[in-house]
Amino acid sequence: MNPPPNITDPLVLFMPSGKRGRFPKGTPVLDAARQLGVYVESVCGGRATCGRCQIEVQEGQFAKHKITSSLDHISPVGPKEERYDRVRGLPEGRRLSCSATIEGDLVVDVPQDTVINAQVVRKDADTRHIERMPAVQLCYVEVEEPDMHKPLGDLDRLKAALVRDWGFDTLDADFHLHADIQRLLREGNWAVTAAIHRDRDTERPRIIAVWPGLKNEAYGIACDIGSTTIAMHMVSLLSGRVAASAGVSNPQIRFGEDLMSRVSYVMMNPDGREAMTKAVRQAVSELVDKVCAQGNAHREDILDSVFVGNPIMHHLFLGIDPTELGGAPFALAVSDAVSCRADDIGVELNRGARTYLLPCIAGHVGADAAAVTLAEGPHRQDRMMLIVDVGTNAEIVLGSSKRVVAASSPTGPAFEGAEISGGQRAAPGAIERVRIDPQTLEPRFRVIGSELWSDEPGFADAVSGTGVSGICGSGIIEVIAEMFLAGIISEDGVVDGALAAKSPRIVQTGRTFGYVLSDGEPRITITQNDVRAIQLAKSALYAGTRLLMEKMGADRVDAIRFAGAFGSFIDPKYAMVLGLIPDCDLDAVSAVGNAAGTGARMALLNRSHRREIEDTVRRIEKIETAIEPRFQEHFVNAMALPNKVDAFPNLARHVALPERTQSPDSGASGAPRRRSREERAARRSRS
Ligand code: FES
Repeated sequence: MNPPPNITDPLVLFMPSGKRGRFPKGTPVLDAARQLGVYVESVCGGRATCGRCQIEVQEGQFAKHKITSSLDHISPVGPKEERYDRVRGLPEGRRLSCSATIEGDLVVDVPQDTVINAQVVRKDADTRHIERMPAVQLCYVEVEEPDMHKPLGDLDRLKAALVRDWGFDTLDADFHLHADIQRLLREGNWAVTAAIHRDRDTERPRIIAVWPGLKNEAYGIACDIGSTTIAMHMVSLLSGRVAASAGVSNPQIRFGEDLMSRVSYVMMNPDGREAMTKAVRQAVSELVDKVCAQGNAHREDILDSVFVGNPIMHHLFLGIDPTELGGAPFALAVSDAVSCRADDIGVELNRGARTYLLPCIAGHVGADAAAVTLAEGPHRQDRMMLIVDVGTNAEIVLGSSKRVVAASSPTGPAFEGAEISGGQRAAPGAIERVRIDPQTLEPRFRVIGSELWSDEPGFADAVSGTGVSGICGSGIIEVIAEMFLAGIISEDGVVDGALAAKSPRIVQTGRTFGYVLSDGEPRITITQNDVRAIQLAKSALYAGTRLLMEKMGADRVDAIRFAGAFGSFIDPKYAMVLGLIPDCDLDAVSAVGNAAGTGARMALLNRSHRREIEDTVRRIEKIETAIEPRFQEHFVNAMALPNKVDAFPNLARHVALPERTQSPDSGASGAPRRRSREERAARRSRS
């Protein structure tokens, strides 16, 4: 036990964690960090050879902390650091915390990029700082040579050295190491680096891999298995650096575009489950090859892995038949987090590599939603945060530190362009942005692949390669919201046929009217059926959200996060005009495209995040929207634009919503009922 700190001992503050404590002069900075629970990497065990324990001293007066920190308050560079600097190079201002000792008050910065090679922060990974406490640690040790008089086995002497140098109480070892340990120890001349896995404090630490000599880098992979795309990051377990990122289309698409058709495929084909499991694992394996090539690493360097996905992807990846998820009561085979060896699920990494899958929230709200929850942290804050992942099945999480609820809502594929006459997936040539002049009703738009608006010079040339091929989800949201703002559709979503007299863009299609958005080839018309399809989809999402708000006793939300690829392209303003999401300060609405990947990285780099999300998911209340009596009522109200009863005061500050008039049927809520000339005309057009 350490003696209690003396008030005259130097005070040391570690940043960015803010942890502080007093330590006797002469204490190595690394020891002080360890005692305070500040994570500073160390592979060589303080031999000043790995360079992983680098820190920086901040100089100056830190009045808030009552600390005057100075370079004089840390020991001068000693021979070990000098040698490291000579051989490997130490960046300006950096010290090795295993060698440098505390000699006075200090503010110590633990750089988050403690890497030896030049690092590249990849744009496609969220660059947020994730405090590290990985489940796998590299420990260099020098092992006693064999002695005839002490017949302890090689593996046992390795364990003894690890206990001696690294403070483990006891250790287990993976069986596969037994056959290799003698060769490895001799190859390393009795010095080896062991990878120790310990996910939970209640587990015995376990040796999962051994390399001769000093091994100074190890990786983990964080992978989001989406039904359309699989995305993977390879991350240094020692520095947190994202070394490589890659994505690939989910090859299961050939068995069915959407999730339910994949479940049907399993039900209809005897080998369906096996074929789909094989396909997704094969794709994961190809991604491992890609990230290894990109990050200049080998599969053997990957020691840990975290996977997230919706419940059906999660089950198929694990080799579980997802049939039960195809219908009520949507029973998951396993909802808790899954920990196993990577080779148990056919992922070929280091032989001892481990795998962790985040828990699933419910039969329709998966480990991907859990990862987004971990990344965005509604459970860590006081404000009421709404997270929506818009897909065929929208996943909705709402809550704050007090309580979190979750549900899914069957939005259908309309937001992905399906069921829409001119709809298509987001790809070059698809209309993604739309504006309509309320006077002339003339549109202008932008397509994916060009920055130019359709009324700007050069547009035709810019899109000559792709043409204007259709409209994708974000474009559909914008065009319908703009049609509403321009008075082309009423709050009930009816296209005003009377406007055909004013604009050739309003055309009759059978018994209803449509709006010609693009009159090129193909001609893209937003039909009455298209508007209906979007109304149904948005009503399902909004009704689910409203139901959750009701459960929480909340009449407003403070922040909204759009997760998923689709969410990245939605303009919050138009989503609100459409009534896809409840009213909220527009500045507090944002897209968090790769939040599931960020959550997976958090679980990879810090095992306490695994406990955090396991605990949070256990506490999340799951609401089954289909059996809630109020769902229908919310759904019907949400069919109107933006909503029949709910007010949108924040939105009204940014957008001139069509005039609302009080009507006798505004209901007990007293919310004004919008009744416009467009609606009256629409009624005429319906009759
Ligand atoms: Fe390895 Fe300091 S712990 S250099």
